Amino acid sequence: MIEETAWAKLNLALHVRGRRGDGYHELETLFAFVADGDRLTLAPAEADSFTITGPCAAALAGEGDNLVTRARDLFRERFAVNGAVAITLDKRVPVASGIGGGSADAAATLRALAAMHMIDGGDPRLIQCAEELGSDVPACVRSVTALGRGRGEALTPVAGMAGTPVLLVNPGVGVSTASVFARWDGVDRGAIGEGDLLDCARAGRNDLEVPARALQPVIGEVLTLLEEQADTLLVRMSGSGATCFALFASVDARDAAVRGVAEARPDSWRMASELL
Ligand code: C5P
Repeated sequence: MIEETAWAKLNLALHVRGRRGDGYHELETLFAFVADGDRLTLAPAEADSFTITGPCAAALAGEGDNLVTRARDLFRERFAVNGAVAITLDKRVPVASGIGGGSADAAATLRALAAMHMIDGGDPRLIQCAEELGSDVPACVRSVTALGRGRGEALTPVAGMAGTPVLLVNPGVGVSTASVFARWDGVDRGAIGEGDLLDCARAGRNDLEVPARALQPVIGEVLTLLEEQADTLLVRMSGSGATCFALFASVDARDAAVRGVAEARPDSWRMASELL
């Protein structure tokens, strides 16, 4: 049996640089990963099965075309391997929420299958599978801090901030990535700078925040609430939203924010963790 964590993905900055002819947008983004997320268990079995459990499972109920099963099928096709697998997904992070969700699950499935078949995690065929499954999947397969270019799949690892306390907050609304991108105003506001990660992230922005807030104004309320917390290093929406996060200078500051946010927005989804 193989267990994998689908580490939640954060975009410390996300600059949209242009619209492409293929329906995607040209990005520059700083990916970082959280030491927590959905959990996947894979085991050889007589027949394929896929079970979803956990606090966020209901949102996926009845969805036949899950990215996990697509990753399983694509892997078997590309590596020409047989053998049924029983997969359990413990869904702990909300779907359609800007922190990888399905992409991280698909990536964890690829990592687990690679381990099961003794295939190197850097095998180009594995990366190819990841790119076909989604723009964020290659970043999630590696789950290291990286600058992403292209549609997010062209990665350059950068020095990370491992151990930095983080709090993720989702107001309980889902937003469609495609609808948020479609509302981007088409203005290129410039590149991500070079140098220290936190400095670059702070000087940067998430260009999808304005369009996401237009669809779900509650995102603005969550950002304001996080900004009001003490000792934050960075407050930002991740991906196309609606999950927002704050990095903190200390564990105590993060834990105080967990209490503050729980009190102010008891219905929100919260996850306290640290960066990988
Ligand atoms: O690649 P993925 O399937 O995760 O992307 C979902 C949708 O998000 C795409 O269909 C596209 O509308 C939008 N997208 C984009 N530019 C990117 C990544 C995603 O427009 N770089």
